[in-house]
Amino acid sequence: MDFFELAAHRRSLRKFTDQKVTQDVIEKLLKTTLLAPSSKNTHSSRFMVIENREALQAIADMRDSGSAFVADAPLAIIVAGDKDLTDLWVDNASISATFLQLAVEAAGLGSCWVHINGRPHCKTDASQGTAEDYLRSKLDIPENWGLLCAVAIGYSPYDSVKPHPETDDYEKIVFVK
Ligand SMILES: Cc1cc2nc3c(=O)[nH]c(=O)nc-3n(C[C@H](O)[C@H](O)[C@H](O)COP(=O)(O)O)c2cc1C
Repeated sequence: MDFFELAAHRRSLRKFTDQKVTQDVIEKLLKTTLLAPSSKNTHSSRFMVIENREALQAIADMRDSGSAFVADAPLAIIVAGDKDLTDLWVDNASISATFLQLAVEAAGLGSCWVHINGRPHCKTDASQGTAEDYLRSKLDIPENWGLLCAVAIGYSPYDSVKPHPETDDYEKIVFVK
């Protein structure tokens, strides 16, 4: 699969087989992710690689919607940024997470971005704090890290992938000639 086919083939995956992701594959994914560009080459992105069941459950429980499926993933990688290094840590971490999702696809696995930054723990009760507050209460996360998202990763139980729907996206582009 060349890059263009890979980009067209990638879809979010929220259900996974029980197959473990080997350390070799995890390292390959991270090595590629670390090649992502960053503002002023600060390399501000930081990663927490999670296979521990209780920690995966904590990610699943960090929000009251949109994250529950992480409980059954074999692997999740929290993508964060060193806030002391740059004010553009979110931008850098977003590129890192995208590189990670594309690397996952190239390795024959699937993934889904699960957002953390700015999300409440409970949508209807702001007093319960943020998803990040909740994760910090469960995991040992360095003080200076801002948390962007978790990328849930694993093997697909499906035989085929739904193609991207036909859209009028091309109309969103303005050409100046
Ligand atoms: C910034 C961002 C935040 C997202 N947050 C979540 C999330 O919290 N939970 C979830 O299940 N999917 C999340 N997604 C996945 C999107 O829902 C998904 O990419 C979108 O519906 C398009 O589907 P596709 O990835 O299959 O093309 C997120 C994606 C992005 C880029």
